[in-house]
Amino acid sequence: MTVNAPTAADAITAAASASFDKCTDPRLREIMRALVRHLHAFATDVHLTEAEWTAAIEILTRTGHLTSETRQEFILWSDALGLSMLVDALGHTGSGLDRRGVTESTVLGPFWTPDAPLRAFGESIAEDVQSGTPAWVYGRVLGKDGEPIGGAMLDIWQNGADGLYTVQKPETDESHLRGRFRTRADGNYAFLGVRPIPYTIPDDGPVGAMLEATGRHPWRPAHIHMIVTAPGFERLQTHIFDSESPYLDSDAVFAVKRSLVRKFVSRSADDADRPAGVKNEAWCSVENDLVLAPLAD
Ligand code: BEZ
Ligand code: FE
Repeated sequence: MTVNAPTAADAITAAASASFDKCTDPRLREIMRALVRHLHAFATDVHLTEAEWTAAIEILTRTGHLTSETRQEFILWSDALGLSMLVDALGHTGSGLDRRGVTESTVLGPFWTPDAPLRAFGESIAEDVQSGTPAWVYGRVLGKDGEPIGGAMLDIWQNGADGLYTVQKPETDESHLRGRFRTRADGNYAFLGVRPIPYTIPDDGPVGAMLEATGRHPWRPAHIHMIVTAPGFERLQTHIFDSESPYLDSDAVFAVKRSLVRKFVSRSADDADRPAGVKNEAWCSVENDLVLAPLAD
């Protein structure tokens, strides 16, 4: 049997990997060696040319220049390549039984910002009346055995009728379409949002150029974002997707999970349940219970 002599490429990979042998942090050593191994395997696999390597460096440079407090083009790469949802899946393995009934998680996205205003039960998150069709969102936050979780915190953000998030519009009041709500002792929460609409992920940068060049579209199906936290429970980062939205089957960031799709029920202005904050106009409602996993000991 003949054994092929190592190529120059093999020798470089081995040397780069071995350069981490003296790293004393075992996790960092593992990550850096695997990074070199997979990166080199990728370049070898596609037979990366010098011109393509240069183009990739230019793309990363532009990604860095575009990234700021309000725009995260690196996370957008992670989202558009499915890496964010892969990390989400890896972080929520457990046995099927452990996670049965627990609300599924999905991407954070680039438009969450801290310190949303604390609001009262049922309050509107829309500071501007022309934000879209009012949507009464309500439900309970529960533990796995159906026990209500009082005092849980829900952090909500969403887009309005123009498709934009408030952080994308510097001229808009930063409280607009954002809010934090505490559940009541019986686990109930409610807020008045607006029916979200499908929108494109920011596509005027390198990620958009990649989508265009590869024949992919930049659309996300309509959704409302939520982060739910409560002492003793895992933090939940999730969405409610509108069951009537286009793009549920082709989300640009692969973040739709069937269990998160909800019916937004259309209601008329004369509906007896019309919430106080809704003017004499059509509105909709969506029920959404959220089930949290207990923190592992
Ligand atoms: C979002 O849902 O806000 C979002 C997620 C990933 C990329 C872009 C936007
Ligand atoms: Fe979003």
